[in-house]
Amino acid sequence: MKQHNFSPGPAALPESVLQEAAQGLLNYNQTGLSVAEISHRSPIFLAIIEEATALVKELYQLDDRFEVLWMPGGASGQLAIAPMNLVSKDERVAFVDTGFWAQRAIDAAAEICQIHVLASSSKSTYDHIPKDWTLPNDIKYLHVVSNETIDGTQYHTYPDVAVPLVADMTSDFLTRPLPMEKFGVIFASAQKNFGIAGVTCVILNKDRISEKMMGEIPTIYNYQTHIREQSLYHTIPTFPVYVSLLMLRWIKAQGGLIAMQAQSSAKSSLLYAEIDRHPLFTGNVHVEDRSVMNACFRGINAEVEEAFLAYLTQHGIVGIKGFPTVGGFRASMYNGLALESVQYLVDLMHSFK
Ligand SMILES: Cc1ncc(COP(=O)(O)O)c(C=O)c1O
Repeated sequence: MKQHNFSPGPAALPESVLQEAAQGLLNYNQTGLSVAEISHRSPIFLAIIEEATALVKELYQLDDRFEVLWMPGGASGQLAIAPMNLVSKDERVAFVDTGFWAQRAIDAAAEICQIHVLASSSKSTYDHIPKDWTLPNDIKYLHVVSNETIDGTQYHTYPDVAVPLVADMTSDFLTRPLPMEKFGVIFASAQKNFGIAGVTCVILNKDRISEKMMGEIPTIYNYQTHIREQSLYHTIPTFPVYVSLLMLRWIKAQGGLIAMQAQSSAKSSLLYAEIDRHPLFTGNVHVEDRSVMNACFRGINAEVEEAFLAYLTQHGIVGIKGFPTVGGFRASMYNGLALESVQYLVDLMHSFK
């Protein structure tokens, strides 16, 4: 039976990308070599990483004021690396506490600098994004979790503030055009919208973060090191970068970020309409802050949830159980998930009694 993969990440990839990745793993471009066994400094791999970087720049229309880096260590690493680079230990960074990943960012930054939480929706189980706050004058940057993967909220408009935004875009990178001038740093690990686990893409906006801001920190964590070495200071995870390239080509061929945005909107509207119509289910999040990536919803009671999960499993739906601390269901609809899979899920919700 065909499996419909609604996993929160690692997540579904288009069949054509998987086919090409599999081919490259065995024999890359008829070279007789696996793409996973060539040197990260070989001309073959340099062409791969250069094309991937160029495609990120092309899709987001970035000029030379922006640096695109590929780094190991996941988005979790960036939760510490960004403050290490941007502030000293006496300086203050602000956060909006929107959920699990905001909490992780706050905890990571608290080990490095002073933190200030502007507002939190924790008391209402993170069912919305707090917007009623003012930024104190001494704040150096505002960290935002663009999309809260676990709680199911997403910024549909980013805050207007004088300081740069540092955005954790792990679960909505490459899914829509962005107001780039607002951001100092954007980072996202690949395993949701543009590849497999192992590599993180980082965009630095040199207009918003000066060289002075990139401070005196260990060489390995310094963004300047990775700019200078063109992301090859490490033995970069070569195969994950190759899969990212295949996804970037796929995104471009689909019509770029406008097309990704339209596809996300079509998928999520279809599912949320069914959640709102169905007498047995309710959405977790206020309509205006609902994520188009991770739709979080509940059954009206535990018995309904148990029966629905069993029904879905029996019909080939995987990865849809909510995060343990949240419960219920979470349907993740990243770039690689086809509209047909969402239609299939909606049909199952419809026929579920
Ligand atoms: C919003 C967000 N930030 C950060 C992370 C952590 O990413 P990684 O596991 O690549 O360190 C995740 C992982 O799911 C995430 O969803």
